[in-house]
Amino acid sequence: MEHWQDLITRFERLGHLEYAGEGVTQWQHAWQCGQLARDAYAPAPLQLAAWLHDIGHLLDGQFIDGKSDTPSLQGHDDRHEARAAVLLEPLFGAAVARPVALHVEAKRYLVARQPEYLARLSEDSVRSLALQGGPMAAAEAAQWREQPHAEDALRLRSWDDQAKRPERWPASREHALEQLYGLMAHCAGTKR
Ligand SMILES: [Fe+2]
Ligand SMILES: [Fe+2]
Repeated sequence: MEHWQDLITRFERLGHLEYAGEGVTQWQHAWQCGQLARDAYAPAPLQLAAWLHDIGHLLDGQFIDGKSDTPSLQGHDDRHEARAAVLLEPLFGAAVARPVALHVEAKRYLVARQPEYLARLSEDSVRSLALQGGPMAAAEAAQWREQPHAEDALRLRSWDDQAKRPERWPASREHALEQLYGLMAHCAGTKR
């Protein structure tokens, strides 16, 4: 199993990769999402979930020729949320792993419950939506909302959708990494 410090190395090695189709890099998207969570005063595990929700795109086999893959363009769903959650749960516990696991389903939920939400999604998010199962049916949505961490997943999703601004970068990369490192250390020490 990967040690949590290795996740920092993974960002340092692969974070420059484009979040293909979105105009931001993986690192930039992760950082922006983490800042939105922090600005919303989210608890530390949810802030960390925001930072790491797309780490599944940076796992081995998920990138080609130095570019991150855009699986939706190849017509397949990479299940990045499930791959990430399996990695994160033993390291940081359910409060980090479950919102990550549910962030794709949260999109399917929101499209079903808020028709105007679809219009706000990026092109790639719309393309992957179909591959991920499309909008939830009413009964599925009602059931989904009842499970633990569904609320956190919805909050994470709203930051995820906003964290795609090409012009936004951290003033200090070192400071941003320190912030991530601090969250990881905290969540690894308090995992439930
Ligand atoms: Fe994602
Ligand atoms: Fe994302």
